[in-house]
Amino acid sequence: MGVAMSKTNIVVLVSGGGTNLQALIDAEKRGELGNGEITCVISSKEGAYALTRAEENNIKTRTLIRKDFSDIASYSKAMKALLIEEQADLIVYAGFMTILDENVCDTFKNKMINVHPALIPSFCGKGFYGLHVHECALEKGVKVSGATVHFVTPECDAGPIILQKAVEVRQGDTPETLQQRIMEEAEWNILPEAVKLF
Ligand code: GAR
Repeated sequence: MGVAMSKTNIVVLVSGGGTNLQALIDAEKRGELGNGEITCVISSKEGAYALTRAEENNIKTRTLIRKDFSDIASYSKAMKALLIEEQADLIVYAGFMTILDENVCDTFKNKMINVHPALIPSFCGKGFYGLHVHECALEKGVKVSGATVHFVTPECDAGPIILQKAVEVRQGDTPETLQQRIMEEAEWNILPEAVKLF
C-alpha cells in the first residue's frame, strides 16, 4: 500500500489577462504540477480576465483591490490574512503587478515565486513590469531576452533565481511581438516547471 502524498495548496495572484495562470491550469490538468492543486486565484484588479479563466475552471476566486488601500503596508496586511485563510502552501505571482511588503514575504518565506519577463538582473526592479520591460529591452538593443522565475523577497525582483529561459530578439520586433514570444517560449514553460520543482 502506498503512502498518500499530501497536496500542496497553490494560490495564484493575478492582475491582468492571466495567460500564465492558464499555463498553470493546463499543466495541472495534464498532471504536471506534482501534488500541487490551484485552490484559489486572487486578483488585485476588479474584472481581470484571469478571474474569468479561473471561474471557467471551477477555481475559487477572490478580489483584493489594490487601489482600495492607501498604502502597501495595509494592502499587504489584508493579503496576508487572505493567504492564511486560504491555507496557501505555495503562492505564485502570475502577472501580479503589486509589491507586497516584508510582512507577507517573511510569513511565506521560500513559498512565494514570481515570473518576470526578462533575464534578471536585466530589466527588473521597481517600475519594470508588463510591456514596459520589453520596450526597455528593445531600446537597449539586446539580442537575447527571456524570462525568470524566482523566489519573492521584500526587494523587488531580487530573490533567488529558480529557472531562466533565453529567447531571441528578432529584427523588427515590437514590444508586443517580443512579449508574446517570451511568453510562449519561456514563461508558459518555466512557470509550471518551477511549480513542479517546488
Ligand atoms: C507577463 O509577461 C508577466 O511575466 C509580467 O506581466 C505579464 C502578465 O501576463 N509580469 C511582470 O511584469 C511582473 N513584474 P498574464 O496576465 O497574461 O500572465
